[in-house]
Amino acid sequence: MTAELRTPGSPVEAARPPFVRIAGVEKAYRPRGRALQALDPITFDLGVGEFVSIVGPSGCGKSTLLMLVAGLIPTTAGEVVIQGQRIIRPYTDVGVVFQQDALLAWRSVLDNVLLQIDVRGLDRRRYEPTARALLARVGISGFESYYPGELSGGMRQRVALCRALVHDPPLLLMDEPFGALDALTRDQMVLDLQRLWLEARKTVLFITHSIWEAIFLADRVVVMSPRPGRIASVLEIDLPRPRRLGMRESPAFGRYAAAVRQRFQAFGLLSET
Ligand SMILES: Nc1ncnc2c1ncn2[C@@H]1O[C@H](COP(=O)(O)OP(=O)(O)OP(=O)(O)O)[C@@H](O)[C@H]1O
Ligand SMILES: [Mg+2]
Repeated sequence: MTAELRTPGSPVEAARPPFVRIAGVEKAYRPRGRALQALDPITFDLGVGEFVSIVGPSGCGKSTLLMLVAGLIPTTAGEVVIQGQRIIRPYTDVGVVFQQDALLAWRSVLDNVLLQIDVRGLDRRRYEPTARALLARVGISGFESYYPGELSGGMRQRVALCRALVHDPPLLLMDEPFGALDALTRDQMVLDLQRLWLEARKTVLFITHSIWEAIFLADRVVVMSPRPGRIASVLEIDLPRPRRLGMRESPAFGRYAAAVRQRFQAFGLLSET
């Protein structure tokens, strides 16, 4: 098994029908009147039920890309198309886990999860059992009436994950969801996410700084360059599922990790001298 590296510029096509099309999407900001090119044109598809990780250095535009896909900010050029619909306003049939957990301090755990339902004007009573079941699934049973300030960082991220899933969206966008967690909690969260994904097979765009996390979870890993972010390479991850933590020490996994690391080193990142 080799770590297949595609060269930049080569077509990036999903093996499955596209669920999300990111076509020549570009983003420039204008902080204090100064032009800042966050993303150079990015083109790739997410196939139906595919898990795609994006790994890239800090500031390369990962969060920007996620916000563009969710329709939360406008593109400067190019377009995002989800299930044939061009995204020009916030897309609602999606679950988003932001880089900060963004729980509301004055709502209980259960009410934070049900926020999705409230803002959509759906029937709270219908979704409460789903919310409770999701919380149980990620080990938060018994804490439904707690407030975010009474939880650990790992618990808060689990609640944020439940909130993204409670309305059963077909698409999940996750921005560094486990970045602030200790290593052990992070391992567990990755395993939990894998289990949830294997059960529901949603289409997932997962953003991370962590090379192993990106490889462990994904069908494909998109490696981004430093800002202005563009696609440096794409790896198809051909490892059987469910993946086990011990696989991180396997030669095949090591080859994928080395391929990503070498990309970063080629950009002058991860200097060892
Ligand atoms: N609202 C904004 N206004 C102006 N510039 C912005 C804005 N949001 C992001 N940027 C700039 O765009 C670039 C990319 O930011 P972004 O948050 O997308 O990076 P990132 O890859 O998510 O970084 P990190 O890994 O640190 O979260 C940065 O240089 C940042 O300063
Ligand atoms: Mg970010």
